[in-house]
Amino acid sequence: MIDVLIVGGGGAGLRAAIAVAETAPELSVAVVSKVYPMRSHTVSAEGGAAGVIGAGDTLDEHCYDTISGGDWLCDQDAVEAFVAEAPRELIQLEHWGCPWSRERDGRVAVRPFGGMKRERTWYAADKTGFHLLHTLFQTTLKYDGIQRYDEWFVTRLIVDDGRVHGVVAVDIRTGRIETIAARTVILTTGGCGRVFPFTTNAAIKTGDGMALAYRAGAALKDMEFVQYHPTGLPFTGILITEAARAEGGWLINKDGYRYLQDYDLGKPTPTPKLRSMELGPRDRLSQAFVHEQQRGRTVETPYGPVVYLDLRHLGENKIDARIPFVRELCRSYQNLDPATDLIPVRPVVHYMMGGVHTDPDGATPIAGLYAAGETACVSINGANRLGSNSLPEILVFGRRAGTAAAAFAREHRQAEPPAVRSQGEDERRQLERAREGNPDGERIADLREEMQRTLEGAAGIYRTGAELAKAADTLAELRERADAARVDDTSATFNTELINLLELHTMLDVARTIVACALNRRESRGAHQRTDFATRDDAEFLAHSLVHRAPDGAPSVGLLPVTITRWPPGERVYGRD
Ligand code: FUM
Repeated sequence: MIDVLIVGGGGAGLRAAIAVAETAPELSVAVVSKVYPMRSHTVSAEGGAAGVIGAGDTLDEHCYDTISGGDWLCDQDAVEAFVAEAPRELIQLEHWGCPWSRERDGRVAVRPFGGMKRERTWYAADKTGFHLLHTLFQTTLKYDGIQRYDEWFVTRLIVDDGRVHGVVAVDIRTGRIETIAARTVILTTGGCGRVFPFTTNAAIKTGDGMALAYRAGAALKDMEFVQYHPTGLPFTGILITEAARAEGGWLINKDGYRYLQDYDLGKPTPTPKLRSMELGPRDRLSQAFVHEQQRGRTVETPYGPVVYLDLRHLGENKIDARIPFVRELCRSYQNLDPATDLIPVRPVVHYMMGGVHTDPDGATPIAGLYAAGETACVSINGANRLGSNSLPEILVFGRRAGTAAAAFAREHRQAEPPAVRSQGEDERRQLERAREGNPDGERIADLREEMQRTLEGAAGIYRTGAELAKAADTLAELRERADAARVDDTSATFNTELINLLELHTMLDVARTIVACALNRRESRGAHQRTDFATRDDAEFLAHSLVHRAPDGAPSVGLLPVTITRWPPGERVYGRD
């Protein structure tokens, strides 16, 4: 039996694996990932990782920025732990070989970032996630005890009597279905941006870990909070990092006007510095885009309305030194050079603030089951995550979950219960039935597209109760139709059609929770803006949404109070001292 089984091979999963190997070297660890770990979505993080380092900055200021940025929905005990541990994690990465960009005198360089009122974002040019993931991956290779199941897809958590006992997984390469017994399981599969049609997220981000936990009886938390990043390339949705604005880029509308000055985000500054309006929080910037569009001040393109990101004044040298990947992406995917051309951009789904409900050690209410990273909701991001908080989040809470799971596995050495075999066999029968194929149903891609369009229409930047209620019905119906979806491929080897079907089911389960939570939250806060309830309502909704799966499969939403330690709810103020 595996002591700690980690589902997901991105930054949170690898950090958790290292924590187990370091704190409990006698335990066995397995990382099960549907892609080779270096293909995990962490690799695409660009702009940086926040952690207090510079003179003049304080832990309290990082806490405050995070909490006000999250519109007071963060659990402040979790934020305090996160902010205190983030710098240690970033220094630890340095010791493992992460090539942080540096100042001329050799100190680690930091840049400003959206909603952060101090410069505290560490970076490795604009490929921070790539370097961070490499560093973690190569560190895991030091430990013989870390076993890997690369390109295995987990389909079910085995839970009996309120405790997790392992997983069922399919080897994508051979089709082999295996029950893997484990004393603890940590879910680190990332978010679920793919439930929307236009996203920065890789195709693998289908909410697998969230759905596994939800189906097993755990609650998901704050699923209505979907982050739009203000600057995605039209058509592809490829991220143009916030670092471009941190280095001095401007957002301009069709008249060449820096429109953010009209949205209470501060005044235009000639140089990029703190409190620059282009470095407002992502929810506000994405909402400003919609208003510009409504005023007819965006530019129509075949791929939707856009504004422009203007980097021309930065000059070629600075672009090449600080944000070379931006130039590379623009050349490859947009056929333009940001040193001389404007970059068309529009808001794009980027991150889920919600996820599996956990405590600050990643523990869920199911004994032995943990979650960390974007899969989880601890919650440090509240109603709107600040850019560059997610990389330290995967480190801090990956380590915490790994350490906590190792302690649990040490203390719980019972033999495997019969449920492991019986649930494993049940799942095997269902998977084999699915692999027999179905020549009649609707195409997976058609159902997926309808789901994505429904989400975009009802749960985008602005929402109404009527649209959300309609979307809830559509998704319930789609969930039934997906059970009878057409599957042509009956082979065992690399049956990606079967994986697509499993991912569709996963996404539909998660999508329904997003809509249900959004419908239930009759207020506007952070990334959740209801035009029919346009203001924040602390009296009723200074609370997390907790959503469980009811016996009929429908989402059932309740509320859980937010933990406030030292920062009572206040006004979110940007661009002003
Ligand atoms: O814009 C960016 O580089 C994104 C960073 C983040 O989401 O933390």
